Amino acid sequence: RINLSETRPEIVKLGSGERTKEVDYSSSDRGTRVRVFGRVHRERKQSQVLFVTLRDGYGYIQCVLTGPLAKTYDALTLTRETSMMITGEMWEVPPGAHAPDNRELHADYFEILGKAPGGEDAVTNKVQAKGDAQTLLDMRHLVLRGDTASSVLKVRDAVEFAFNVKYHELGYTKVSPPALVQTQVEGGSTLFKFDYYGEEAYLTQSSQLYLETAIPFAGNVYCIEKSFRAEKSLTRRHLSEYTHVEAELDFITFDDLLVHLEDMMCGVLSIVMANPRIAAMLQELNPDFQMPERPFKRMRYSDAIDWLREHNIPNENDQPHQFGDDIAEAAERRMTDIINRPIFLTHFPAEIKAFYMPKDKDDPRVTESVDCLMPGVGEIVGGSMRMSDYDELMAAYKREGMSADPYYWYTDQRRYGTSPHGGYGLGLERFLAWLCKQHTVRDTCLYPRYMGRCKP
Ligand code: 4AD
Repeated sequence: RINLSETRPEIVKLGSGERTKEVDYSSSDRGTRVRVFGRVHRERKQSQVLFVTLRDGYGYIQCVLTGPLAKTYDALTLTRETSMMITGEMWEVPPGAHAPDNRELHADYFEILGKAPGGEDAVTNKVQAKGDAQTLLDMRHLVLRGDTASSVLKVRDAVEFAFNVKYHELGYTKVSPPALVQTQVEGGSTLFKFDYYGEEAYLTQSSQLYLETAIPFAGNVYCIEKSFRAEKSLTRRHLSEYTHVEAELDFITFDDLLVHLEDMMCGVLSIVMANPRIAAMLQELNPDFQMPERPFKRMRYSDAIDWLREHNIPNENDQPHQFGDDIAEAAERRMTDIINRPIFLTHFPAEIKAFYMPKDKDDPRVTESVDCLMPGVGEIVGGSMRMSDYDELMAAYKREGMSADPYYWYTDQRRYGTSPHGGYGLGLERFLAWLCKQHTVRDTCLYPRYMGRCKP
């Protein structure tokens, strides 16, 4: 074993950028002696040299073990995911060679901290051998250590942070509505029911109704909370538990809502792209990504029905679309993919939308409602104006066969100083599936929940 130098070298984190002390390893800093901690991401043995790519969650570093160090028992039996400490001198990589952040650590000492199994139980066997989607989901806790999954989750963190930044720039207040509720928002068929001390209660489908009660004391408000849907269909964009970015805007028109939505989404993307570390990950995940053009395309529901008929895209019964049809996922995605830019699909018929949406004054068949559709994913946002009139809301409960009693607190908003207001909910996992070009929302959350899966 090689002795550590008398002075313990400084510990460095592996990422480049703001989290790491800026050191120029090519100039006077060359040879700086450092200590790094991490797990073996990859290892490559050459005759006299062992190359180890170490990962610590902040970044990667190539470590070069030579001479007696490369011939130790621990070096010869080194396995992926083993955690270790390495000390050595940091050098710029030689011309023509490639390594993360253009640097490599020339090791003079290392210690194994947690040895990972090799052979049958090696991590590569666990996550790659079978490779089918269900095995990968069972092994999600190990899959998360891979390049793609970890990048997606870091982008996710940056996106969530950017929403908070943008909302605060706009002066919105964040509130945290309850997850355990006794009212439905988006229809009874997807409610998760449970016994709440002997009373029936549900996991919330959306925080919208509670956000509406916050605008009189806070003005424009938002929340980023979990929503729950007992979705009985297995699609690539439905989860049972998802993260819902929701906002409610007071004293607005429907057009204000659309302009805000565009501003919000583009603002969030600008904040995310301004972070070089995240922008580099996105370049890897989605090299063709382009900032959406503003304004987004506006398309009324009735025009979408005409468009689907003209393009011979049938409805779920394999018939030409008719006014009144709920545009199904497949048709919606085909349309969005062909148009290939973000679309605000507006003015849906009242019959296929939620009870709280007001009718359009100029066309009472339809509501002041919007879905934002993105290529590759389809709907990522659902929003609308909210009925502000007491009688109209009471009639809506009746029409939907809902008892008004549990909604007394929601109805009271129309009695104590009602206002023209509206809002929306954005599915964070769907937004990320679009941004990171992931096939399914199951890959844009830490541990997906959907029918048949509640583990790990
Ligand atoms: O269109 P939805 O159902 O609208 C609402 O819940 C409104 N109350 C929101 C509001 O106005 N505050 O859902 C909004 C968005 C969808 O566009 C979609 O992105 C996402 O939530 N979403 C789901 N994401 C993943 N899995 C599911 N099962 C989802 N259901 C909705």
